[in-house]
This record gives sequence, structure tokens and C-alpha cells, in this order.
Amino acid sequence: MAGKLDGRVALVTGAGGGIGAASARRLAADGAQVVLADIDIRAAQTAAAGIPGAVALPVDLTQEASVKALTEAVIAQFGRIDVLHNNAAIQNDAQRQKDLDVVNLDLAAWDMAMAVNVRGALLMSRHVIPQMIAQGGGSIIHSASGFGVQGESTLTAYGSSKAALIQLNRMIATQYGKQNVRSNCMVIGFVLTPLAVETTPDVIKDILLSHHLTPQLGQPEDIANLVAFLAGDDSKFITGAAIPIDGGVTAHQPSYADFQKLFAAMGSTKL
Ligand SMILES: NC(=O)c1ccc[n+]([C@@H]2O[C@H](COP(=O)([O-])OP(=O)(O)OC[C@H]3O[C@@H](n4cnc5c(N)ncnc54)[C@H](O)[C@@H]3O)[C@@H](O)[C@H]2O)c1
Repeated sequence: MAGKLDGRVALVTGAGGGIGAASARRLAADGAQVVLADIDIRAAQTAAAGIPGAVALPVDLTQEASVKALTEAVIAQFGRIDVLHNNAAIQNDAQRQKDLDVVNLDLAAWDMAMAVNVRGALLMSRHVIPQMIAQGGGSIIHSASGFGVQGESTLTAYGSSKAALIQLNRMIATQYGKQNVRSNCMVIGFVLTPLAVETTPDVIKDILLSHHLTPQLGQPEDIANLVAFLAGDDSKFITGAAIPIDGGVTAHQPSYADFQKLFAAMGSTKL
């Protein structure tokens, strides 16, 4: 059976990790030739090993020369780039421990979040867009976060970088739409990546689930489903969108979970 992405070339950054690897697997399953890029080349190679025909390449998104080299290597090998999934983000333990509230955060963490999460996506986009225009179009997809649209008591730099990414998405969509380059942003909620499964205690999962409208928490494959949709022609009339993919967490009143508990105790939803 023909895949919806047959003949397309898809480049996924941060593909050594949970969502990026799932995205690459799904894009390949739909027929795309996928390139998995990551600063952690071993992780990218491991993820690529399970995907027929996939290629892993190194990139450091903080370095424009590295982004340029990656883009040139993909074009030299495959002749085109139809899909760019700007997925990488800096969110390892060392970064999280420095990315605190406004008064206490380490400015190095702010600079790093901006360098990878926003400037990195900008660099990838600016090196890939000319190729997309030359070949007649393409689809760019960004991994943003609910931290970019709602306040939180910590991860100030991460959240601010994701808010900037949501606006960068609109700028790209506006500037290159007439040349058939679409840009869309996924506003992702909590996802049970292998790392999250390992590091999130059940009590935290239960709190998070109480704020979801869905019966279950999100899986990397749920995000990959949206990537595949945004990558292909079924979404050709969608651009500049920031699409929540979070089990409804950002759809309801902040008091929802508390009311659910109250209603359960009362045995009624009557206020
Ligand atoms: N997992 C979640 O619950 C969740 C929620 C909301 C948004 N997101 C977003 O989805 C994306 C993927 O999340 P994940 O949990 O799979 O992340 P992850 O940490 O597993 O993967 C991110 C990848 O980015 C790579 N990376 C970091 N710095 C880099 C650099 N300078 N150059 C190139 N690559 C670099 C890392 O090596 C890593 O493989 C991220 O943008 C994240 O912010 C995730």
C-alpha cells in the first residue's frame, strides 16, 4: 500500500530522544526517508537502527556551522527536504537544576534554553527553507510545550523559550506561506517518554492525570500521529497553527480537578 509520505524526505532534530524517535519511526512508516539528527549521535544511531533506511547525523543546534553542515549533508544525500521537525530541546538534569524561578535561575540556563530551543529552531528553519522553496514547498513542525502558554513556578527559561518558538512558528508561516512552505506548532503536554516513565513517580502521574480530560496520559506515538498529519497533504490548509496536544489540559478551567473531587464527594455535579 502506498504511504502518504512516499518520496518525501523528513529531517527530525532531537531524534535520539522519546518524541523525536517516535516521530522518525512514524514518518518512516508512512513512507518518508528519515534523517535523525541529534547532538547525541549515539542515541540518534540507536533510534535509527530500528528504522529501515534511516540515517543518523550529528548536529549541535547552538552552532550555525553545524546546522548548515547537517542541511547540506541531507540535501547532498537525498536531494530535497520536505519535512523539518524542529523537536530538539535542552532539558537534561543539569539544565533543569539551573532553570528555576526568575529570581533564582542561573542565566547560563536561560541562554542555553534560548540557544537550543528557539535559536536552534530558527537556524534549522533558515537553512532548510531555501531548499523547500526551490523544490516547491515543504512542512515545518515545531515541538512547543504547554509551558509556553501557561505559567509555572519553575523552568522559567524553558517556558519562555517555548513561547518564543510558538511565535517563530507564526513568523515562518506568514513569511513563506505563498511559496508553499507551511509551519505549524504542537503545544505538547506531559508525555510518557521512556525517560518520563522511568523518572516520574506514580503520585505525580496521578496528579497530572487528574488535570487531563482523557482517561490516560499521552504517549510519544500520540505526538507522532500529529507530526505525520502535519507533514502530509491532509493538512495542506493548516499553517501558522499552534495545536494543543495535551489530553485537554489547557482546555478547561484551572479548578477542574478540584471540582471533580468535590463532585465525587457530593455525588452530584450540581453547584
Ligand atoms: N516529553 C514531554 O512530556 C514534553 C512535553 C512538552 C513538550 N515537549 C517537547 O518535545 C520535544 C521532545 O521532548 P522529549 O521529551 O522527547 O525530549 P528529549 O530530551 O528526550 O529529547 C531532546 C533531544 O534533543 C537533543 N538536544 C539537546 N540539545 C541539543 C543540541 N544543542 N543540538 C541538537 N540536539 C540537542 C537531546 O540530545 C535529546 O536527544 C522537546 O522539544 C520538548 O521540549 C516534551
